[in-house]
Amino acid sequence: MFVARVIPSEGLDPVRDACDLDLWEDELPPPRDELLRRVAGCDGVLTLLTDRVDDEFLDAAGPQLKVVSNYAVGFDNIDVAACARRGIPVGNTPGVLTDTTADLTWALLMAAARRLPEGDRYVRAGSWKTWGPLLLLGPDVHGATIGIVGFGRIGQAVARRAQGFGMEILYHDLQPLPPSVSDPLGATYLPLEELLPRSDFVTLHVNLSPVTRHLINAETLALMKSTAVLVNTSRGPVVDQAALASALRDGVIWAAALDVTDPEPIPMDDPLVGLDNCLIVPHIASASRATRGKMASMAAANLLAGVRGEQLPTEVPPPS
Ligand code: DGY
Repeated sequence: MFVARVIPSEGLDPVRDACDLDLWEDELPPPRDELLRRVAGCDGVLTLLTDRVDDEFLDAAGPQLKVVSNYAVGFDNIDVAACARRGIPVGNTPGVLTDTTADLTWALLMAAARRLPEGDRYVRAGSWKTWGPLLLLGPDVHGATIGIVGFGRIGQAVARRAQGFGMEILYHDLQPLPPSVSDPLGATYLPLEELLPRSDFVTLHVNLSPVTRHLINAETLALMKSTAVLVNTSRGPVVDQAALASALRDGVIWAAALDVTDPEPIPMDDPLVGLDNCLIVPHIASASRATRGKMASMAAANLLAGVRGEQLPTEVPPPS
């Protein structure tokens, strides 16, 4: 087995106990040529979202490869169709990170609305001289309208949090969900072009696909309120970053909070980095100790099942 990074012991220990483990121990991902060299001859590989699994990777691994287990719920780094053509199942880690990701989404939303990073920088810069009636004003979160784009597990978990803040909850997805899902959340379906102008907060929870790449662009940003806050904990390329930077600079929208960027890490000369109304954290939505441990144990279970020729506990459905 090749495991492409040190993951929590909940996943590493069972793999180490069961098989011959080649572990990439650096903090940074293996460079491409090293990755291709290390997977050669492996029966199973445990990858991260930083490792691209495509035909080149599968050729390098060889025909004995039985499983690709991704340490993430997202799998846009994997060409699932290419794996399916070779009969190689792909595993991911759904479910266990839903609430942890929704928590971080909420932290970003609150922090951007109430300008926490700016406030922190202000204090540390020694600028805090007195209580100021106009200092660092922002919008209320309670009672506001939230537009949730992508109403799967994580989007719905965000909606549950929004209920506690007495918010009006709007959502958009490929199609309206059954009332048995949306009614208990008090969530109303709207087409994207109707949801954006009505939302005070817009939060993104879609998979990255050709359909969702640059879903938020100059045109869709222009539909949003000039007071709106955009939150992205999905994937960086869902947002056209150059368009977002212009929108934040020109007051088309008020603020943004990003857990994901395009590329990652975001280059230090990206215009977003210089904007006070853009909060950026380094793709940490699932980063609680407990959740990363559960993800590790699920990824190990998928890896070991695949090597034994068993059904993966959580397999990414192959494209039809
Ligand atoms: C995922 O799982 O897809 C996240 O982006 C990382 O936990």
